[in-house]
Amino acid sequence: MVKVTVAGAAGGIGQPLSLLLKLNTNVSELALFDIVNAKGVAADLSHINTPAKVTGYQPENKEDKTAITEALKGTDVVIIPAGVPRKPGMTRADLFNINASIIRDLVANIARTAPKAAILIISNPVNSTVPIAAQVLRKLGVFDPTKLFGVTTLDSVRAETFLGELTNTNPQKLKGKISVIGGHSGDTIVPLINYNSSVPVLNKSQYDEFVHRVQFGGDEVVKAKNGAGSATLSMAYAGYRFAEYLIDTLSGGPNNYKVPDSAYIYLPGIEGGKEFSAKYLGGIEFFSVPVVLNHGQTVSFINPFEQLRVSEDENKLIKVALNGLKGSIDQGVEFVNASKL
Ligand code: NAD
Ligand code: LMR
Repeated sequence: MVKVTVAGAAGGIGQPLSLLLKLNTNVSELALFDIVNAKGVAADLSHINTPAKVTGYQPENKEDKTAITEALKGTDVVIIPAGVPRKPGMTRADLFNINASIIRDLVANIARTAPKAAILIISNPVNSTVPIAAQVLRKLGVFDPTKLFGVTTLDSVRAETFLGELTNTNPQKLKGKISVIGGHSGDTIVPLINYNSSVPVLNKSQYDEFVHRVQFGGDEVVKAKNGAGSATLSMAYAGYRFAEYLIDTLSGGPNNYKVPDSAYIYLPGIEGGKEFSAKYLGGIEFFSVPVVLNHGQTVSFINPFEQLRVSEDENKLIKVALNGLKGSIDQGVEFVNASKL
């Protein structure tokens, strides 16, 4: 049985994500941490008649470390949607100033209390928050790259939905037929249509629309919410989809996904990842690729250039994505190097 901790559990993503986790019968314990209202959300969810025991933890004051420590004790999986979301006119990178220190401090607590837990980072900018987490774990001597994941599943969920709309196909039949690789913001997001599978063909203008909506789908929601935040419900669904995959493999479930969902990972820490990064990514170390999980960790990844058919258009998109990623990765690593942990 699996203990899952959600940090940021009372937020727009945290609440529906915690609800979905409460419904998963492989979860035996669900610890909800937030700086506000975690106990209220936990009390509410605890009335649902599924086995997971739900507990809520919130600090008494800024110095109080007991709540986070208790929430993390003995946990197998930590999912982090803590932090601020965008408002119209902002990019995800604009969130760095606030969210970088939130992630740094939460991950330092994980390193000290639950160093073996799998960590799923939702908080933006993912292109930087995952390098921040990696660097914190590295500095504290407990970095296991097979257990750190930037959650990019919403890009796959959107890709399936938008391709389904454009081709009048049931989007659920498209799972595993589109992989989204790269990063998680604008043109660092690269959808790859798996032409080895039976996918309806798009004409040029449909393809351009498809790529644009996948890359900038987040903006559609930010604009429509008009100052009230960004995607929360679709993100909770997408975050749960990846978490469920991981929890399945932790619970001894079958791992028979042909082309699994992607996650933004530190490639040099995965077998063959260093060579892949050098050969195809100009040495970029953090990149989202389809990840094969077993026992809650990455055991291998799908090399899109060898295992999927990458078209000329897709290759051009990948080049643009690589240009956009380097600065965000460096910014995260430098932030931690300049921090006292
Ligand atoms: P929100 O403001 O509704 O919720 C955030 C929660 O985090 C709040 O409850 C807040 O109290 C809590 N929080 C703040 N600091 C904390 C700390 N130090 N420890 C614990 N909890 C803390 O925001 P949201 O809409 O849920 O979005 C959360 C984050 O997820 C944002 O950064 C957003 O950009 C990001 N996001 C990522 C994706 C993705 O695809 N990876 C998708 C959507 C949103
Ligand atoms: C998204 O893709 O919806 C999230 O990253 C939130 C955002 O800021 O767009």
